[in-house]
Formats: sequence, C-alpha cells, structure tokens
Amino acid sequence: MNSKQMVGEKAAEYVEDGMIVGLGTGSTAYYLVEALGRRVRAGLRIVGVTTSSRTKAQAEAVGIPLADLNDVMQIDLTIDGADEISKDFQGIKGGGGALLFEKMVADHSKQVIWIVDDSKMVQKLGEFPLPVEVVSFGHQQLIRLFEAKGYHPQLRLGNEGQPYVTDGGHYIIDLHLKVIEHPQKLAAWLDGLTGVVEHGLFLDQVNTVIIGHENGIEEVSAR
Ligand code: A5P
Repeated sequence: MNSKQMVGEKAAEYVEDGMIVGLGTGSTAYYLVEALGRRVRAGLRIVGVTTSSRTKAQAEAVGIPLADLNDVMQIDLTIDGADEISKDFQGIKGGGGALLFEKMVADHSKQVIWIVDDSKMVQKLGEFPLPVEVVSFGHQQLIRLFEAKGYHPQLRLGNEGQPYVTDGGHYIIDLHLKVIEHPQKLAAWLDGLTGVVEHGLFLDQVNTVIIGHENGIEEVSAR
C-alpha cells in the first residue's frame, strides 16, 4: 500500500455515523473517497459535500449520498490533500485546480484534516507553484502585474494547450515564487486584487495532518 492510500484510509476512520463530510480532491483524497464508499456500503450513514466535479463523480460511483454546499448548515469534518505544508501548518493547495471549492468547503467545516505523504512537508512554503484562480476577462493584466512583482506567473494550460478552466469557470495563474517569506501578507495582497477569485494559500485552517512515511503514519494536531 502506498503512502497516499495509507493516509486516505486512516482519515476515513475519523468519519463517524451521521456526519456531514467535506470530500477533498486529488490523488490522495481519491483513496479517502474509496474507503468511505466501502464504509457506506457496509452501513455508515453520512452525507458528503464534494469539492470538485471529479470527486463528485467518484463519490456518486462508490455510493456516498451527497448534498450541495448550499443545502447544509455546517460540515462536521473535511478531509483533503495538500501540495505543501510548512512547519507551522500553513498550506498550499490547488495543484489539482480545485482550490476555490476546496476553500469554500473547508471554511464551512468544524474540523479540517489534511492527508499527505511526507514529501509535502516543507520548512517554508513556495517551492510548489502557488495557484491563483482568476476571472478569464482581462487575466493578462494580472499576469503583467505578477510579472512586474517578480512572481514568475504562468497561465495553467489544459491537455490541448488551451487555458485550463476550473469547475467555477475561471483560469489559474501559477506563481513560481520559490519561497514565501510572509504567507499572510501575500494572501492579504492577493485577496485585495480585482479579478482574483481565490488563491491557494490555506492559512490557519487545518486541525489535523495525517502524514504518510515509508515506515508508517503520523497524526499531528496542528491547532
Ligand atoms: C486540488 O486542487 C488540490 O488542492 C489537491 O488537494 C492537492 O493538489 C493535493 O493533491 P494530491 O493528493 O494529488 O497530491
């Protein structure tokens, strides 16, 4: 069993009968959804709120009952992957393009668990390109601004070389920053830009991180 599968299956054990569960996106969250599907078929009663069209299709296929984010008052627990987690448990997410829905679901969750293999644990954020989801209209203006700042922006492309379009209908600009010294400051600046819909800095959000090592699993309480 690889690390992603180990942490996905471990996280599924945190889910209790009756919970409303936020279901993350990505190759690690995939194993969570598979494991929860098995538990549901064995009698677990939960309602899932998905963070992407991909996860929705998978959750439906494995038989997890779903609700729209609009139709739940609060989510008990959201379990999701991450692209980078720093020593102080700040994260970069959105490598899979689902950052906007992932952040919305997490923001309405009582508890958030991230599941990662240990390659995602870093001293400081930034080696992984920071995704910024933007409105397609006028997006070149933001690219120019990021270029002027020295942020090495790159418009994310799909398989056929066309701009990648998120589930929300937006584009993604990846910023190649190498290191982010002040995540809070950068997040606040990005939040203030017209045309930016969301960014992949997930700050002060995660409660528990489940880390897969070659020789086992580590569960760390973040806050
Ligand atoms: C999806 O947009 C992302 O935030 C994923 O959660 C993140 O990229 C981790 O994905 P993997 O589990 O595939 O590495």
